[in-house]
Amino acid sequence: MSGASGTPYAASVLRALLAAGESVDLVVSRASRLTLLDETGISFRDAHWREDLGEWLARGADGKPASFDVDLDAVRYWSAGDLAAGPSSGSYATKGMLVVPASTACVAGVALGLSKDLLQRAASVTLKERRPLVVAVRETPLNGQTLRHLVTLDDAGASVVPASPGFYAGATHIQDLVDFVAGRVLDAAGVEHGLYRRWRGALGGGSAD
Ligand SMILES: Cc1cc2nc3c(=O)[nH]c(=O)nc-3n(C[C@H](O)[C@H](O)[C@H](O)COP(=O)(O)O)c2cc1C
Repeated sequence: MSGASGTPYAASVLRALLAAGESVDLVVSRASRLTLLDETGISFRDAHWREDLGEWLARGADGKPASFDVDLDAVRYWSAGDLAAGPSSGSYATKGMLVVPASTACVAGVALGLSKDLLQRAASVTLKERRPLVVAVRETPLNGQTLRHLVTLDDAGASVVPASPGFYAGATHIQDLVDFVAGRVLDAAGVEHGLYRRWRGALGGGSAD
């Protein structure tokens, strides 16, 4: 997670990954703690990550309880400042990496190979190892610099999945819009989920299910 607005997207992706039986290496950038605090009121602490994560994932984007009964044993948490952490090496086995949400600063850092923290280093490692990297960028409007950085990431093999929800899947709540974006992120990573209703084509009545 980097410090763009959109922590509900990250919560939805995390819940779905755990529900799909995936194990997760979690990195929360320093700036992401600010957005998490701003958007949820949760002050995320390295030393109490399990407790803070549990509290966060149990809440939906509408502030109501989310359906979440997956335990957190499948999560390995790494401090963003820990450049000696597992994911900073290509020899650490992962299936890929999802940056959700992705700030323009993170996009720039990964495009330029800065590796200024564990998040950026792990993303660069993911690219060099030719593993799937999905970048859910959240900013509007986008300037030319960011657009060029996104093209660089696309050229390097990343999937750029803007956090821009579609409205054709029958959304009636904020959580539906959040889950749509989270679902498209998981689609890009090849992870099965039931987060949104898929478009069935105009012959199917033009509806999604
Ligand atoms: C409340 C809040 C919301 C923010 N929203 C965005 C955003 O939507 N997109 C973005 O690119 N940056 C946003 N930022 C700025 C980033 O947090 C900032 O560029 C930071 O340096 C990103 O660092 P990171 O990529 O290491 O997480 C926001 C900052 C705050 C405090």
